[in-house]
Amino acid sequence: MIVLGVETSCDDTGVAFFDGEKVLASTLYTQLSHFQFGGVVPEIASRNHIKKMLPVFKKAIEDSSISINEIDGIAATYGPGLIGSLLVGLSFAKGLSYSISRPFIGINHLEAHLFSPFIGRSIPEEPFLGLIASGGHTELYIVNGISNYKLLGSTLDDACGEAFDKVAKLIGVGYPGGPHIEMWAARGNPFGFNFPVPDPPGLDFSFSGLKTAVLYAYKKLSPEERIKDIPEIAASFMRVAIEALIIKLKRAIKETGIERVAISGGVSANSLLRKRVQELGVRNYFPEKNFTSDNGGMVAFLGYQYLVRGKSSQLDLRADANARLISK
Ligand code: KG4
Ligand code: ZN
Repeated sequence: MIVLGVETSCDDTGVAFFDGEKVLASTLYTQLSHFQFGGVVPEIASRNHIKKMLPVFKKAIEDSSISINEIDGIAATYGPGLIGSLLVGLSFAKGLSYSISRPFIGINHLEAHLFSPFIGRSIPEEPFLGLIASGGHTELYIVNGISNYKLLGSTLDDACGEAFDKVAKLIGVGYPGGPHIEMWAARGNPFGFNFPVPDPPGLDFSFSGLKTAVLYAYKKLSPEERIKDIPEIAASFMRVAIEALIIKLKRAIKETGIERVAISGGVSANSLLRKRVQELGVRNYFPEKNFTSDNGGMVAFLGYQYLVRGKSSQLDLRADANARLISK
């Protein structure tokens, strides 16, 4: 069985196939035109998806040598995300599903991230803890199975990846912030600046105070120091941001007694996070690096999981910018 996955929730146009064992021809077009604005501009994002949807799909078809008639199901992200962006991939997928008479599966973007560590591997025994840390979300769940979740905590303000992006913009190291901060941090002392580790009560997260602490520290520096201290600021910020995630993971493991954790979303590419999670001494699962940020492979993989369980969606499923993960 072959499932097509289409992802257009933000600024990446992603298309891939999953054949039950592996992802084939994961094709991704990442929009770089947002760079000059330091963040994603929704109107530009949706227009770019319109331009790229067909070429990216055609490239995936060419790269995989799969013919359209071999596709058994078509999965696409319906939310959460930018409404104009979501509509492009969703409409494309519905149109294809209708024209070739194959089932359509609407995918929640957060659920696709949650299961991305298991692409092409076996899904571990449930329950496990699932942490999504991306540019739009920072959420911690107990995963009891596909479509079966309990939300333990989420960010009260900025998402973790968003904090990386904003700090990167402040210190002028490029967009998206995560990989650039990580690169600069490699050359800096992580204790050069003593930013407080955010720890709101319980299992919720907070990153806006950290971002402001970096801003205040930066403002106090002379123009020369601002350049010289880029590695220190990057390393100190990264240490604290990752520590903020680790504190909650530790607390969740202690409170729930669940000793399996799956980390996903763009921030899960971060090497310090991977190292710190491995040090927790519990079973841990991370996506392969090409499935950390938004991609079609995770949508195809989850779509496949639904289809083998006999589940699909109606063609009138609407795009939902604020879709939540609700247990069904
Ligand atoms: O999952 P994703 O592609 O998009 C959303 O669904 O939001 O995540 C993108 C986010 C960006 O904020 C980016 O800065 C962050 O993931 N990111 C990283 C790293 N690579 C990407 N953050 C920290 N370290 C990284 N290596
Ligand atoms: Zn995402």
